[in-house]
Amino acid sequence: MEPEAKSRTWLAPAKINLALHVTGRRADGYHLLDSLAVFTRFGDRLQIEPAERDEFSVSGPFAAGVPLDGDNLAVKAREALRREAGARQASSVAIRLEKNLPIASGVGGGSSDAAAALNGLAHLWKLDIDQAGLARIGLTLGADLPMCLKAKPLIARGIGDELSPLPGFPALALVLVNPGAAVSTPDVFKALSRRDNEALPPLPGRLDFHTIRNWLETTRNDLEPAACAIQPAVGETLKALKKAGAAFTRMSGSGATCFGLFETGNVAKRAAIEIRGRHPGWFVAATRSMEAD
Ligand code: C5P
Repeated sequence: MEPEAKSRTWLAPAKINLALHVTGRRADGYHLLDSLAVFTRFGDRLQIEPAERDEFSVSGPFAAGVPLDGDNLAVKAREALRREAGARQASSVAIRLEKNLPIASGVGGGSSDAAAALNGLAHLWKLDIDQAGLARIGLTLGADLPMCLKAKPLIARGIGDELSPLPGFPALALVLVNPGAAVSTPDVFKALSRRDNEALPPLPGRLDFHTIRNWLETTRNDLEPAACAIQPAVGETLKALKKAGAAFTRMSGSGATCFGLFETGNVAKRAAIEIRGRHPGWFVAATRSMEAD
């Protein structure tokens, strides 16, 4: 007999755009990007288990503000996968989301939750669907869903859906900081002054903390100036990370979350404590990014 399907918890990591160049715009208004993204051990958590009827609940520090109904991306993911699987195979499930990532903050939280839901439900329902199939469903929910399904260092092109893994990319010590200001992604894209920037420069042959930091100095997040203009707290966040000794600082995605890069996890942890002390209301997390396979 098959063992009874049990509850299992899935990590929905934060997505951090270490570099993000806006290289064009499609006829439908979506922007063409060239971005290097990594995913962190810190993130939301989704507990998924069989249930009498579908349930969705949210806990955690950022639970307030998470939509509980069909507007939630994890719920949309459940419905999209159920349509694909058929109702017979896709039995009722309880999804409990622990929301540790700030909302609308440039770290892909909602997309990562939906990606974790797709991975978790495909496993629970024992679906015969590969990663490409999940990515196709994911893309109907958001441009960065496919990269959140991978959750390993990668280059994303197209609208963020054409993915190339980065073999040999190491884990990096990061501090994530958000000043408590939500920023609207469409507003940031609308405020761009130019959309025809050059592609990312080639990566160094040898990938370590120093070569990656030097490479990052030659790249940008093209969304940063627009986000800073809309939400000046982004600039303060970058300053706080610099002051705490980050070797490199930048905003992630469309903001307002910024990251600092540190040489070791211990230095990152000390910096996080310092920033928390100075800015008690801010979200601050010391974490490591996941290395390539
Ligand atoms: O795909 P998603 O719903 O996450 O995107 C949110 C919004 O961000 C889009 O409606 C669009 O305004 C903007 N966007 C964009 N180009 C991208 C990704 C997002 O213009 N590549």
